[in-house]
Amino acid sequence: MSEKENMATDYSKIGFFMSENEERYARYAVANSEMDAEEIVWRVNNNLDKEKYQFDIQISDGDDLYVIVNKFFKLPAEYSPSDLVEVDERRMRKAVAKAYVKMRDAAQKEGFSIRVTSAYRSIEEQERLYNKFLLNDPMEVVDETCARPCYSEHHTGLAIDVEGSIPGGRNISKTPEAAWVKENCYRFGFILRYLPEIVDITGYASEPWHLRYIGVQASTDMKEKNIKSFEEYKERFLNTKHA
Ligand code: DAL
Ligand code: ZN
Repeated sequence: MSEKENMATDYSKIGFFMSENEERYARYAVANSEMDAEEIVWRVNNNLDKEKYQFDIQISDGDDLYVIVNKFFKLPAEYSPSDLVEVDERRMRKAVAKAYVKMRDAAQKEGFSIRVTSAYRSIEEQERLYNKFLLNDPMEVVDETCARPCYSEHHTGLAIDVEGSIPGGRNISKTPEAAWVKENCYRFGFILRYLPEIVDITGYASEPWHLRYIGVQASTDMKEKNIKSFEEYKERFLNTKHA
C-alpha cells in the first residue's frame, strides 16, 4: 500500500475496527505496505505494532476458553483455573483432559504414541523454569522459547506439551508423531500454537510439541480457513466486542 492509498483507506468498514486504534492503523500500514487493510486492523488490535512485553494488558477472564495469553496479554499472578484434573500425572482443565485422552487413544489405535509431558504450570513452576533457562542463556534467547511468569498459556491449564515415541517433547520432531499431531490435533480441539510461520506474531520459535485447546468447533474452523495464529482467528472470527 502506498502512503497515498493508505491515507484514503477507510478502516472503519472492517467489522472488527476499533476507533481508538485508527491512528495506529495508518502508521502501521506505512511500515507494512504489503499487508491489506484487514490484516493491518487485526494485527494492530493485537498490539503487534507495539514492542512485546512493553504494553501489558491484564487478562480479566483467565477461565475463558478463547483466552489469549501472549507477550501482550498477561494473567494475574494469583489466577489459577478452577477445574483442574489429573491425567497421565499432569494437571489440566477438565475439557482439555477429556480431549487429550481421546487424542492419545486415537493416536495409539493408528500406531502412534503420544503422551503429555507438561500441562498446567503454576506461576511458581513457570518462574522456576524460566530462571533455569536463564542460567544458560541471556534473556532475549530465553524469551524465544520460554514464557515469563504470568505470560504462559500453561498457566491457563489449556495448553499441553506432548512427546512422541522418543521421550521428551523437544524430540517430537524426530518422530512420526510430529506429523500425526500436526495433521490430526484439530479433530480433538487442539491447535499447534507456535508454528514456524508465525514467529513474528507469537514471539516464540516453533514448538511442534505445544498444543492449545480451543474446542473442536474453533480448531476445525481455523483449519478450514487455513489460519495459522489464534491471535488472527480470534480477532477476525470470535470477537464480539466490536460488533
Ligand atoms: N514454551 C512456552 C512458550 C511457555 O513457556 O509457555
Ligand atoms: Zn508448552
